Order: sequence, then C-alpha cells, then structure tokens
Amino acid sequence: MKSSLERVSLGFFPTPLHKLENLNRILDGPELYMKRDDYTGLALGGNKVRKLEYIMAEALDKGAQVIITTGAVTSNHARQTAGAAAALGLKCQLVLSGDEPETRQGNFLLDYLMGAETYCVKPEDAEAQINLLVSQNDRQGLNTYVIPVGGSCMPGIISYVEAYQEIKEQNPQEFDAIVMAVGTGSTCAGLNVGARMAGDRTKIVGIGVGLGDREWCQMEIARLSNLAENYLGLVPSSPDQIIVFDEYMGSGYAIPDDKVRNAIKLLASSEGILLDPVYSAKAMVGLLDLIEKGYFKQGEKILFLATGGCPEIFGFNHFLSEE
Ligand SMILES: Cc1ncc(COP(=O)(O)O)c(C=O)c1O
Repeated sequence: MKSSLERVSLGFFPTPLHKLENLNRILDGPELYMKRDDYTGLALGGNKVRKLEYIMAEALDKGAQVIITTGAVTSNHARQTAGAAAALGLKCQLVLSGDEPETRQGNFLLDYLMGAETYCVKPEDAEAQINLLVSQNDRQGLNTYVIPVGGSCMPGIISYVEAYQEIKEQNPQEFDAIVMAVGTGSTCAGLNVGARMAGDRTKIVGIGVGLGDREWCQMEIARLSNLAENYLGLVPSSPDQIIVFDEYMGSGYAIPDDKVRNAIKLLASSEGILLDPVYSAKAMVGLLDLIEKGYFKQGEKILFLATGGCPEIFGFNHFLSEE
C-alpha cells in the first residue's frame, strides 16, 4: 500500500541493498546485509534525502519560497536540506546550534557551497532565531516553510514506511532484524510502521547515539510512529514495543570513542564502506556487540541501514588517525 502523499524527485531510488560478504567471513555470525541510504545521491546523500522528497513536496504544495531548518553546526540534515533547496531553486536558511567554526569544514562547508545562509546560535536561541527569520521573510513577501530538526515530521516518517516496502521488494525474504542509528527517531519510526503494516516479524532495532536514553528514544519513536499510524489508519505502537539499545552512546552525542574508530576502520578496510563517527558507526558498534553477546545469532539475516554522514569523517581526522 502506497501513501497518497506527494513526492518530489531529489535522489536516486531504490538505493542498493547488498550482502557484506567480507565482514560475514570475518565475523562468522549472522548473515549481514546493508541498505545503502548513504547512496541517496543528492549533496553526498544520507537518510534525509529520502525524507526530503516528501517534505519538499509538501513545502512546494504550500508555495514555499524559503526553507528553514535547524540542527547542529555539523548537521547532515541541514546539509541535505541545503542541497534539496538548491535543486528546487528555493532559498535556504539554516539555524545551526553551536559556535561558528573558524574554518569551513565538513557539512558546514557544504552548506556554504550550496548557497545556504547559515546562522550559528546557542541551542536555546535557535527557536527565537527561526521566528525572527520567518517574520523577516514575511515582511519581504517571502513564504517560508520550516522543517523540524532531523526532518522529523509526518512526510519524513512516511518516507521510511515506504523505504520498508522498498526493502521488501529488493529482498522478499523477511529479515530477522533491521538495525539503525537513532537520532530524532523518525527513521526508526517509519521502518517500525512499515514492518507492522506488512505484518512482518522483522525486529526494528534502534541504537541510540546520545540524544536521549532508552526510555526517551522509545517514547519518541512511538510518538512519531503514531503520527504515521494515525494517518494510515493503523493500531498505534506503544513505547514498550519499540526496541532500542542505549549502551552504545559512549560519552555522549558526537563524542566517538575507540570502539567507534575500530568500527569505522573495520568496515572501511574490509568492505570499502565509510561509516560516519556520529551516527552509523555507533550503530555498527551496537550491532557488533549484539552479535558478540548472542542477541543476533548465526542463521539469522540482519540488515544494517547505512544512513550517511560521511562529510563529518573529516572533522574527526585527528581522532580517526590515532592507532
Ligand atoms: C547520518 C545520520 N544517521 C542517522 C540519523 C538519525 O536519523 P533520525 O533523526 O531519523 O533518527 C541522522 C540524523 O541526523 C544522520 O544524520
């Protein structure tokens, strides 16, 4: 069942789905596969391009001339939004939490190259800055559409309900689990609703990256799932049905540790796949540990969702170069 939401073409879909042959040989555990949403194409790709195809369709429908969104200075979501706005000929204003970096690097450099206006503010000032920009745009007769942090809104969630269907079309045999990083939780929420809608037993397993503990992630993912479930007329998920591990956050959001570095090196050196130090490598640390602990077992088929974020590898060059 397809949703009736509009979608504008921004990336390349379906993204590849393939077996991790070399890693499987090394680990000798469950059969691991990867869904390559790091290959969505636009502006170096990532999971937000999928969300933005639906979000931008709504923005265009509402006559938007300016797109505003928010996130950290290093935000992948902001970078992909800048790319989407550029591709659609819209103005983009990014309200970014954190100090303005002395040199442009990673996502912050790419925001600039794609012509986005950037406003670096303290986290507590972000909302006021967004309101200020909206009223300034209003005075200039420009219609603004504000995308919430992480593209965490109904159209964004629906894009991952449909991603679940895309996965099923590519691999009709059910996976035992799909594993991914949890930031705002809307990617996980969409896949959760997709699996429920299909009546599959595939476990949707989120790995928290430090924005909140397990309870917070479960509440958020259930709340976001409910938005889509309401829209699709499905029975609502409850927080206790959501599977999240919060043991792999290390010292907190965007603070990678040795395990993250080792996971990045393992995937890079065995498969030529580059994970990012903030999201996907933390999720990979979780997957590897859950295999080690026997939570995922030999004979099972596990799909890891690569969500992108590569530009931030370069911001961690010193840390990642350490032995
Ligand atoms: C690379 C990457 N992976 C995963 C996520 C998490 O996605 P979500 O916010 O939908 O939980 C993000 C969100 O910013 C991201 O940039």
